[in-house]
Amino acid sequence: MPKLTGKVAIVTGAGRGIGRAHALALAEAGAKVVVNDLGAALSGEGHDATPAQQVVAEIERQGGEAVGNGENVADFTGAERMIRQAIDEFGRLDILVNNAGILRDRMLVNMTEDEWDAVISVHLKGHFAPTRHAAAHWRERAKAGEEVRGRVINTSSPSGVFGNVGQANYGAAKAGIAGFTLIVAQELQRYGVTVNCLAPNARTRMTEDVFDMGGPSEGFDPLDPSNMSPLVVALSADETQNITGQVFHVWGGAINALQGWSAGELFAADERWDADALLAELTERFPDGATPPGMIAGMQAAGGRSLRAQ
Ligand SMILES: NC(=O)c1ccc[n+]([C@@H]2O[C@H](COP(=O)([O-])OP(=O)(O)OC[C@H]3O[C@@H](n4cnc5c(N)ncnc54)[C@H](O)[C@@H]3O)[C@@H](O)[C@H]2O)c1
Repeated sequence: MPKLTGKVAIVTGAGRGIGRAHALALAEAGAKVVVNDLGAALSGEGHDATPAQQVVAEIERQGGEAVGNGENVADFTGAERMIRQAIDEFGRLDILVNNAGILRDRMLVNMTEDEWDAVISVHLKGHFAPTRHAAAHWRERAKAGEEVRGRVINTSSPSGVFGNVGQANYGAAKAGIAGFTLIVAQELQRYGVTVNCLAPNARTRMTEDVFDMGGPSEGFDPLDPSNMSPLVVALSADETQNITGQVFHVWGGAINALQGWSAGELFAADERWDADALLAELTERFPDGATPPGMIAGMQAAGGRSLRAQ
């Protein structure tokens, strides 16, 4: 396992599921970990310090160092307090894993304003706010002449990059996180910070209710949340200093660096298109129409197995 001794990590939403697995793996590799979790219900309501405290206790039992943090990642000043806690308790911050998330699935025609706002806020602002404050810390260190090796590891979703029915709020936020990754990777490169992104797949409370995932399989279990974490540890190592702006689809042992928007069919003219001519060209070049393949087909192409909606 890469050595992360001396490094300090924050993992958001680390009280359960995939975030908990990341926190345990980073601690096992030697990092000191701030275990953030609001302790919210899957819909984002309520708060409870217990899940974060339990993960802190687990890390300490393994012989690692960790502290709990109960901030809401979508609260701009709360996110600043979380970054400050890492620096005050452990003297620095090296790795920020943005992972906290909620779900409020609904078909678009029935979606309420609250369902839209809550999901966009926790995911999209919940990535922006911690990253913004961590970036200020790294810029300060870089400007002081230090050779910074900062890491931001974001969490998108197959739903965001391939598009899943019933998740317009969640998928839009997760697509936004992939876009945010590309931009911030370019902005923070000058300070020595890499910014990458996972599109994970795991059996957690988030997926168990929506998909027929079956129980843990005999032998290697592709849906164990811990399968998501070796990539987080590897991307945190000094050796990956020049890997940035990547979005990785992860299913079991299959990790696929996704190619995002890439140039497809080109309708090229030397001057402005005439609408009639363009219409004729569209219908000729797309004789069967053009629609997105959807999440399941996209996941299969990226090395994941099919999920069946319940
Ligand atoms: N499980 C999957 O297959 C899957 C697939 C794609 C993406 N994801 C993403 O992975 C991440 C982790 O999901 P999971 O499956 O482990 O879900 P989970 O519900 O088990 O864990 C999410 C954690 O985030 C915490 N949280 C929620 N809102 C918070 C907030 N505002 N501030 C701080 N903490 C908050 C919750 O309390 C919870 O412990 C999420 O971003 C999710 O969208 C998961």
